Amino acid sequence: MDRFAPLRHRTIALVGLMGVGKSSVGRRLANALELPFRDADAEIEAAAGRSIPDIFADLGEPAFREGERRVIARLLDQPAHVLATGGGAFMNPETRALIKARAVSVWLKADLEILARRVGRKDSRPLLKGRDPLAVLQDQAELRYPAYAEADVIVETGDAAHHVTVDQVIRALSAYLQEQAP
Ligand code: S3P
Repeated sequence: MDRFAPLRHRTIALVGLMGVGKSSVGRRLANALELPFRDADAEIEAAAGRSIPDIFADLGEPAFREGERRVIARLLDQPAHVLATGGGAFMNPETRALIKARAVSVWLKADLEILARRVGRKDSRPLLKGRDPLAVLQDQAELRYPAYAEADVIVETGDAAHHVTVDQVIRALSAYLQEQAP
């Protein structure tokens, strides 16, 4: 029996703060499960025909959030896949309700110091522009952790290599789905 079969019935949506590895872990998870992979941020960029920094700069964050809501609703209509969401997506109550209805959600969680170190190396995130990454992440954690905590499964990743996190996610999801089975 294919031990991954129960994990292929529903979309697996990864949520959590910037830098926690939703995209890189998501891609590897999709490979391991032989599911398609979708990255909400990349889909928003494709739909808008510009990069996320340009969407924020040209159209503003509210337009980005509206695009994010629409894109994720469209992706959740597609057959089961692994979906990496942007860090703010699960804060939208409509998106959160849709994810709960159509997907299994996984909160990837790591110490803020680890995340700050990771995101500090990149300048592709408009919310960090000219700001101290740790301070931004601390503010976001305060606002967002109560929503992320509504995810079906929580995986503490620490600073582990991505393949280790993928194994952790698979184990946690399998246990969750087994619990849910009638
Ligand atoms: C954001 C996170 C980003 C991206 C945008 C806003 C956020 O995605 O959607 O810059 O609000 O936390 P990642 O979580 O993939 O970095």
